[in-house]
Amino acid sequence: MKKVMLDCDPGHDDAIAIMLACASSELEILGITTVAGNQTGEKTFTNALKILTLIGEDLPVARGFDKPLFQELVTAPEIHGETGLDGADFPAPSVKPCEAHAVNFIVETLLSADDPVYLVPTGPLTNIAGALLLAPGVKEKIKRIVLMGGGVLESNKTPAAEFNIYVDPEAAKIVFESGIPITMVGLDATNKALFSLEDIEALSRLSGKVSTVAARLLTFYAEQLEKFSGVRGAYLHDPLTVAAVIDPAVLDTRFLHVDIETKGEFTRGATVVDLYGVTGKKPNAEVSFGLDLSKFKGLVFDAIKRLDERWA
Ligand code: BDR
Ligand code: CA
Repeated sequence: MKKVMLDCDPGHDDAIAIMLACASSELEILGITTVAGNQTGEKTFTNALKILTLIGEDLPVARGFDKPLFQELVTAPEIHGETGLDGADFPAPSVKPCEAHAVNFIVETLLSADDPVYLVPTGPLTNIAGALLLAPGVKEKIKRIVLMGGGVLESNKTPAAEFNIYVDPEAAKIVFESGIPITMVGLDATNKALFSLEDIEALSRLSGKVSTVAARLLTFYAEQLEKFSGVRGAYLHDPLTVAAVIDPAVLDTRFLHVDIETKGEFTRGATVVDLYGVTGKKPNAEVSFGLDLSKFKGLVFDAIKRLDERWA
């Protein structure tokens, strides 16, 4: 089994990523850490506890940074609502939170792991950068960072930047310059990881405890996305990271050099990808361009069905 730690800011697509990870027989999840991003630190933390309670999974959940390293927090209520998970009702969280700060929890878990661990960040990279700053030695314990963020030709928060990188560009720079193997699951691939309205209806027809909540979440999220970008369906950005750990063949990637723009007047938070090798810098990330959509959808449907069966 692949050992994994999830670092997230739930968030509708983060919620589906957690479901996919928890249902997988290929992954051993060592814990979940949360970060401020889609909503405040308090809300994303509570949301992670609610999701785990819904799916019947008792994992350690540690709360991390409430704001980015050097700038004020930017949230996304226009996409994820006031709670960060608008659109569905959840049971009151019964999973007991971890006392440690996320950064300490990540460092301690990595240092005590027998085998290298996959880190799967699906929010701003503040906690991951914090862990690397606090204990650079943990690098040896990280097998790969498979992160949702950035884009080569695509952006969503500004004309140049994707949301997760835009919220904490300095943290992203620390991560991309760390020398750790990275898979950048960016918008060029995740904008193609679209659950159509028909897919959401099919999920709803499963009528299980988890599928019903997942379908309601995706319905709300799709409505918001349609208002803001005109798309019909739900971008499953974050679950594609988990799918790529379960089965790397789900992604089309190229090994390229990525710099993070931290200074640009119009481009702060952009991932500057050296497509043609013109910088002469060594590649530092497997950069995603596309995916096997039917394989991906199959993984998500199977996972949610499996979670429904826990309550059948
Ligand atoms: C990313 O931003 C967040 O709103 C989503 O959860 C995803 O991680 C997409 O740009
Ligand atoms: Ca996210």
